[in-house]
Amino acid sequence: MTSVLVLNGPNLNLLGTRQPEIYGATTLPEVEQLCRDHGTAQGIEVICAQSNHEGALVDAIHAAKGAHDGIVLNAGAYTHTSIALHDAILGTELPVVELHLSNIHAREAFRHHSYIAPVAIGMICGFGVSGYTLALDALIGHLGART
Ligand code: DQA
Repeated sequence: MTSVLVLNGPNLNLLGTRQPEIYGATTLPEVEQLCRDHGTAQGIEVICAQSNHEGALVDAIHAAKGAHDGIVLNAGAYTHTSIALHDAILGTELPVVELHLSNIHAREAFRHHSYIAPVAIGMICGFGVSGYTLALDALIGHLGART
């Protein structure tokens, strides 16, 4: 069965209470359940993980090789700073869909650059929590895994 890792980065554990006017009122456990339910409906396995630590995210991307067929990645603020995450994605050669709840291009200039974008198959941003299911659908389509 096709398996996808949904990987969330720093501060996304605070979803639901962190700047709800930007990120919405849905909590991370609710987002993760939504992703798993969507996976079940689409006939794939969805495994969710979150870390506030850059190295742990690098480790999770490395560990995804062989265990998952692709990754939906919301790298949070590391999107804008992390060459290590960029290199980890290159190193695994797994297809990655970059995801952001907010439209990073409509926000502060420091959020406009992404180190993930050049190594992702595509990016979804600005659609809030529904971005997660959009990203899963994009990855499922890319993998040809729709059942
Ligand atoms: C975010 C956007 C990032 O700029 C920010 O640092 C986040 C969340 C988003 O989902 O909109 O932590 O990735």
